[in-house]
Amino acid sequence: MDNTAVLTQMRQLIQLIAQHNHAYYVMDQPQIEDSEYDQLFHQLKALEQQYPTLVQSDTPTLKVGGKALAKFENITHTVPMLSLGNVFNQEDLYTFARRIEERLPQQKVQYDVELKFDGLAISLWYENGELVRAVTRGDGETGEVITQNVKTIRNLPKVLSAQATAVPTLLEVRGEVLMPKAGFEKLNAAQVEKGEKTFANPRNAAAGSLRQLDPAIAASRPLAFYAYGIAQCEPAHGLNSMSASLQWLTQFGFAIGEQHYLCDSIEEVQQRYDEIQVQRPDLSVEIDGMVIKVDDLKQQQQLGFLSREPRWATAYKFPAVAALTKVEQIDWQVGRTGTLTPVARLAPVAVGGVTVSNVTLHNIGEIHRLDVRVGDTVSVYRSGDVIPKVEKVWGALRQADQQYELVMLPTECPVCASPVVMPEGEALARCSGGLYCAAQRIEAIRHFVSRKALDIEGLGDRWAESLLNLALLDNVSDIYHLHEHREKLLGIEKMGEKSVQNLLDAIENSKKTTLAAFIYALGIRGVGETTARMLANTFQNLEALKAADIESLKKTPDVGDITAEWIFDFFKAEHNLEVLDRLVAAGVHWDAPIAPTRQPLNGESWVITGTLSQLSRDEATQYLQALGARVSGSVSSKTKCVVAGEKAGSKLEKAEKLGIRVMDEAAFLVLMAEYGQGI
Ligand code: IVH
Repeated sequence: MDNTAVLTQMRQLIQLIAQHNHAYYVMDQPQIEDSEYDQLFHQLKALEQQYPTLVQSDTPTLKVGGKALAKFENITHTVPMLSLGNVFNQEDLYTFARRIEERLPQQKVQYDVELKFDGLAISLWYENGELVRAVTRGDGETGEVITQNVKTIRNLPKVLSAQATAVPTLLEVRGEVLMPKAGFEKLNAAQVEKGEKTFANPRNAAAGSLRQLDPAIAASRPLAFYAYGIAQCEPAHGLNSMSASLQWLTQFGFAIGEQHYLCDSIEEVQQRYDEIQVQRPDLSVEIDGMVIKVDDLKQQQQLGFLSREPRWATAYKFPAVAALTKVEQIDWQVGRTGTLTPVARLAPVAVGGVTVSNVTLHNIGEIHRLDVRVGDTVSVYRSGDVIPKVEKVWGALRQADQQYELVMLPTECPVCASPVVMPEGEALARCSGGLYCAAQRIEAIRHFVSRKALDIEGLGDRWAESLLNLALLDNVSDIYHLHEHREKLLGIEKMGEKSVQNLLDAIENSKKTTLAAFIYALGIRGVGETTARMLANTFQNLEALKAADIESLKKTPDVGDITAEWIFDFFKAEHNLEVLDRLVAAGVHWDAPIAPTRQPLNGESWVITGTLSQLSRDEATQYLQALGARVSGSVSSKTKCVVAGEKAGSKLEKAEKLGIRVMDEAAFLVLMAEYGQGI
């Protein structure tokens, strides 16, 4: 391929990728499969590797951004970034138009109507087609230089090129950075997952992302840029209207609002406004109104400015989507995993066309941050135009003669009255009711019958829900009374004689278990399989475990401070003890674990690697744990010994390098037998 052909292909790929970035990140409507996108990307990369001298400076394959900054630099705008006047209703809009038309006697006025993006205004400075600077609006005179962050915005051209038009030597584009709604929802979900704070609305999220000193963080945020004006252009573009100049920008790859109209009269403007207000919830981006501009650039010049605002434009704002109302009550809801979530019951109020009477307050920390109390007046808004949230509490509206009690975390679960626990450092409070709590029942049952617990096949995934609906299961101990309800079981859809018998047999067979599996089945928070095994080994019987204090629980290998508390709370709850008694009374039993008379490997760290042939890795782990060893997944200088099966790889190599003792499976079995394991 000659250079021209390579260049053409590179440009094509860059443009295609940019187009799909826009569809994916901005519109949230991917047009191709991820794998196809990857292929485009790889194709471009391969070309670049082959022709490194032709790599384009705006290629998406180069990691954007540079080093983190200590702070942003300030710069004065050559052309100040002014603000807009506001109108809020038809009357004000018509007054705005009348004033304009009075100043332009005998002239026909057309209006350019655009979305008013709810983000942050920035200015982009291109020299010879290259983005050299991006600056925030700041106070309109001086802004902060945020070029690195802005370069991470995927739908923004970093290099200008157009087929039919020469690239200006200087171009200053003004527009708005925002976070499309879909990206905002995803970002917040990811923040929740990471245990980090969520953003109240897309605007805050966009602002927070742009002000990141580390461009790598900005790059991970789904931001988009929409152009709405040209501050400077050399040589002049020669166009004579606002709408044409915005259209002209699109050929360089700038996005402009999905909706924009050229209107012949102010009545038509009003009509468009009414239409957009209806479409607003379905738009991919957050807007807070429309911007109405005189379309003709010469007329704009004639009209000029009044102090800091142009006479030729105004913002036509939508009625607020926030509303004031009173908190009537604060309830606590219990989720399927036992988390307690506070919900404010509100005097019903219309917010953006929808009546809101409940709003989540997330957790007790959020309640205290907002300082919201029953009786308070709060402003409620709908974030991303969907989920209502409390924005703030109007402390000034509290009445002197009224009591506003501080909201406290309940000490008892509102569903089952078990103690509520909230370990230090955790944001969420939980019901300790576990097995007993109706809110947590289905999860508790599914866990109880799962394979590594009491292993009752079919019950969890197939029948649990119907059994609950028929009120046949109140808590897990009822499983062992299901045989008393054979008739009702036969009434369940798709449940024939045979399946009923299979289920009852599986239940009967599950009665013989191990103490470790039984402890695991209880679903105590923080107690997984390994911890359950450790507890069984340490306490040897259920009675001792029930009676254990926090100190002795903490001494169990694998049990930390928080888990010790959770275990303690579980066995303190009267309801749980009742369920345990019923299970034992129904015939659930286990052999006493073989008491390791001594724990000769106490505190040692062992690693098992490769494939063992005589026993499973689980069994080998159990033997080692019974002797007091910890089984770790990686080799370090602290490793005592590595058990290497067939095809052992890097862990074995590392052990040899570190001079750590290695034994094969046969030697391991002999050693275990010596200690009384596996015989
Ligand atoms: S034109 C002379 N067009 O609204 C000012 N502004 O109050 C010309 N905005 O901070 C501004 N969408 O960031 C214009 N389509 C749009 C807009 C828009 C949002 C923001 C802009 C500015 C504020 C003005």
